Parts: sequence; structure tokens; C-alpha cells
Amino acid sequence: MRLDKFLANLKYGSRSDIKKFCKKNMIKVNGVSVKNADTVINPDADLIEVDGEVVFYKEHITLMMNKPAGYICSTVDEKYPSLLNLLDRKYSRFDFKFAGRLDVDTLGLVILSTDGEVIHKITSPNKDMYKTYYVKTKCKIENEMLLESPIKLLDGNNSEYITKGAKVAKISDFELYLSITEGKFHQVKRMLEYIDNEVVLLKRIKIGNLSLPSDLEEGKYKEISLNDVF
Ligand code: URA
Repeated sequence: MRLDKFLANLKYGSRSDIKKFCKKNMIKVNGVSVKNADTVINPDADLIEVDGEVVFYKEHITLMMNKPAGYICSTVDEKYPSLLNLLDRKYSRFDFKFAGRLDVDTLGLVILSTDGEVIHKITSPNKDMYKTYYVKTKCKIENEMLLESPIKLLDGNNSEYITKGAKVAKISDFELYLSITEGKFHQVKRMLEYIDNEVVLLKRIKIGNLSLPSDLEEGKYKEISLNDVF
């Protein structure tokens, strides 16, 4: 790959910026200053430095994050900050996508990946990957077994859809675990409305085989391998 393309992809600047950096001897490949921005490099093998900073690179990265309330799983909203703002410089140079979004007030496990295939495998309803939520309700939980069968709800476009049927495990009169394979807009909240209740606290605690670790603080994240999830 060309050096200028590689560094521009990692948001070190535009290709013409990289050209200027080269002219100013700011870029080294394997310890040697590089004058030409079109030098071909091997990102997996070469050590690249920009102004003394060693460039961190991997072809694909997947992270798990413990989402705090008040952040959104998107980049376009003026009201709330994006979860991506919590990434430090090492990771914010990469283009992460969310493997399933959580509402602004929902907490817990979010997977972010630079790999579109990973996102698809986790979010595609056809893959039947369970996502488990801890749910706290306003009213005493009744008729929760209704959620285990397909029910009719509205999605984000107010079109009707039929759920696939959830796994429900009641914890107490006001708490349950709900596992679903889909991720429609406000799905868990709407499922609880279906049984005449209201969610007061929602936290995703598991995606596939990956559980939210108890020692991962809110707002913190770490790299995971795909074997952790699938
Ligand atoms: N279901 C919801 O209602 N909200 C979420 O954030 C996730 C699932």
C-alpha cells in the first residue's frame, strides 16, 4: 500500500498533507526518513513513525465497550455525544461501526468493529445470535411468558413486524432477563409495553457467547477476538 494512502486512511491528514510531512522529514519507515509519499509500504511488517509517533495499525479491530447512559451509537446527533468520542487516539483513527445499537438511555455491552463481515454476523436476524438484556420494570411483571411466542409490534418506521419469540428468565417481581435475536427499534421497551409494563432500566449484558465483564467500567472498552463472540 502507498504510504500516503495508508496514513490518510488513518486520519493523519490528506494525501497532500502527507506529502508535506515527507518533505519536512516527519515520516520514517523502519527508522529511515522517507521523502516520497508514494513509497510502497507493508502495513503489517513495516514500522511507520509520524513526527516521532509510532503508527498503530491492524487490518481489523473489534472492541467491546460498556456503554454509559447519555451516549448514542451513531455519529449524527447534535444532542448527545457519540460513543465513538470515548475512544482514545490510538483507536479513533479507525472507522468503527456498531454491531447493534443501544438507545441513548440503555447501558451495557456494545461491540464495535472495523470489519463489516463481523457486524453482519452479529446483527443479521438470520444468524439468530442472542442478545441478552437485564430489564428493570416500573410495574410488577406479569404475563412475561407471552414474550416467548411471536408477537406483533411496531418497528422504527411504525411498520408491523412479528418478533421471533424471546427467552425470558424472571429474576424478581420487577426484574427479568430477556434474550432476543433481533434488534428492532426500541424492541425490548416495546415488548415490555406489550405486557402492560414499562422499562425503567435496560442493560445489555451478553451478545452471543460474549458477556459484559463485571470489571469493565462504564465508558471503558477493550479489544476482543472473534472467538470471544462466536
Ligand atoms: N431494546 C430497546 O428497547 N432499547 C435498546 O437500547 C436495546 C434493545
